[in-house]
Amino acid sequence: MKNIAVFASGSGSNFGAILEAVQCGELVAKVQLLVCDQPSAYAIQRAEEAGVPTFVFRAKDYPSKTEYEQEICALLTEKNIDLVVLAGYMRLIGPTLLTDFEGKIINIHPSMLPAFPGKDAIGQALAANVKESGVTVHYVDAGMDTGPIIAQQAVVVDEGETKESLQKKIHEVEHKLYPAVISELLKGERRTESEKTSIN
Ligand code: GRF
Repeated sequence: MKNIAVFASGSGSNFGAILEAVQCGELVAKVQLLVCDQPSAYAIQRAEEAGVPTFVFRAKDYPSKTEYEQEICALLTEKNIDLVVLAGYMRLIGPTLLTDFEGKIINIHPSMLPAFPGKDAIGQALAANVKESGVTVHYVDAGMDTGPIIAQQAVVVDEGETKESLQKKIHEVEHKLYPAVISELLKGERRTESEKTSIN
């Protein structure tokens, strides 16, 4: 059985979808840890209800990113984590975690990257008046939403779409896509475009 850790900062609806996929057997994995940098985040309650251990921290209690990432790295190593799943974790991953877990950290982002990276991707898409936006799952590198793309799914932006309505559509896609991609990665069934190119 493969072990995963989920990192979240907020409501954790994607974390909830991952827990459900595990419970119903669609995703064969053990969620060993929730890492959360916001002590009041609803994601923590979801973890407690599901019996998932948590590591909750405040970045300001540490001298720098290196120190809290060293603690996180020790926990991930102790729990034999195979894949780190960022799900609404609002911090850039630093060199400490990137070095130890290279190629094992993924993120989900609410746009068709490389379009609209960074914060408020849904607001950015609406402001740009696009007819289509979507969801991207990608590997994490040192940049902001710049790592190799693993999977994408488009979402139509309708006439009169609001931030709330588009967010709802995007969340519906995310909640199916993310558990499915995690499952394929853990089974070794999916490769990124860059991995495919280097093999061919
Ligand atoms: C998701 O839309 C995800 O794409 C982005 O942050 C949001 C997190 O939502 N990275 P939730 O906390 O999983 O509900």
